[in-house]
Amino acid sequence: MRIDVVTIFPEYLEPLNVSLVGKARARGQLDVRVHDLREWTHDKHNTVDDTPYGGGPGMVMKPEPWGEALDAVIESGAQGEELPVLVVPTPSGRPFTQELAVELSEKPWLVFTPARYEGIDRRVIEEYGDRLDVREVSIGDYVLAGGEAPVLVMVEAVARLLPGVLGNAESHRDDSFAPGAMADLLEGPVYTKPPEWRGRGIPDVLLSGHHGKIARWRRDEAFRRTVHNRPDLIERADPAAFDKKDREI
Ligand code: ADE
Repeated sequence: MRIDVVTIFPEYLEPLNVSLVGKARARGQLDVRVHDLREWTHDKHNTVDDTPYGGGPGMVMKPEPWGEALDAVIESGAQGEELPVLVVPTPSGRPFTQELAVELSEKPWLVFTPARYEGIDRRVIEEYGDRLDVREVSIGDYVLAGGEAPVLVMVEAVARLLPGVLGNAESHRDDSFAPGAMADLLEGPVYTKPPEWRGRGIPDVLLSGHHGKIARWRRDEAFRRTVHNRPDLIERADPAAFDKKDREI
């Protein structure tokens, strides 16, 4: 997969050299290219923003540098190759979910446009919306100072789903929000050695070796945790997803 990020803070994307994403890049599973938006400005102050039409607080990112930057990035793609999906982080976007992470992980090429200030001139979204699959995406109901941190979040969520990136392909099978039997439940608690720590033991069932009982216990714990932390997920789920034992909790 290829990922391009156009930003006025390229150094903010340095964490993409570390850990899971950094290793995927080093192995050639992920081709990440970070570009400085100011390279596509032509005045001596490298201006990327201006005051909003209609008045109001804050500044708006000018369309010209974004247009030149995105044209250059898109043109750098190989002839005949699929066009990128343009991912625009904004608190006004559709929620970023595991489902969207899976969908994006199946695309060959993503271009992220993290904005600062009050956002990007609307005409940029319209212009590329005519040519590309454009997704305006929010990572949560809070407002950050810019879209760079959301890009780090989204790239990590997508990269770990790429074939061969996680050591153990089964590691995302039980993730919270992963599709499957536990699709509507959060992941339950986990334990490792030592068997006793500060007087606290391990639930007996996990030491029993009884796979059926362990699976049942994991489901009960997942259900309990979901009821406690995210009752909205239970309300929204298909009632058929729950069995009689769940309902006893
Ligand atoms: N930019 C600022 N806040 C954001 C959010 N919550 N999601 C995506 N992009 C953002």
